Amino acid sequence: MRQILILQGPNLSRLGSREPDQYGRKTLDEIHGEIVRMGARDGFSPVFYQSNHEGGLIDRIHQAGDDGTDGVVANLGAYTHTSVAIRDAFLSVGLPVVEVHLSNVYRRESFRHKSLISDIAVGVIGGLGPAVYRLGILGLLDWLENRTPKTTLP
Ligand code: DQA
Repeated sequence: MRQILILQGPNLSRLGSREPDQYGRKTLDEIHGEIVRMGARDGFSPVFYQSNHEGGLIDRIHQAGDDGTDGVVANLGAYTHTSVAIRDAFLSVGLPVVEVHLSNVYRRESFRHKSLISDIAVGVIGGLGPAVYRLGILGLLDWLENRTPKTTLP
């Protein structure tokens, strides 16, 4: 059974009450519950990790590189736009990552248009609310099955 890490970055622990017009009213636990039910139905094993700290996210990525994790679906929150260290952590473990965002970052402030993860991700999904996690997992499972070649870095 595929083991998929769902990595959640800063402020996502506040979902449900945080800027509901932007992120909806579901809590992180409710979103994770949907993923658990999907895993039972579709035959994958989800593991969840949320941190408001860059170092915690980096340590968890390193752990995923050693513990048999097959791939990562990551919403890195604001660190998406700033963190060279998280980018380097993904490069250091070589696991496939799908970048997801609840909101459509391209409809928002220009500082959200830049991602330090997108060009090393196997896919990027955004703007559809909590469905992005389920869509990201489906895409990752399909990628793992077919090993779609990763675009090479410039
Ligand atoms: C987000 C978008 C980011 O720009 C923001 O900092 C977040 C959430 C999203 O899911 O839409 O914290 O990643």
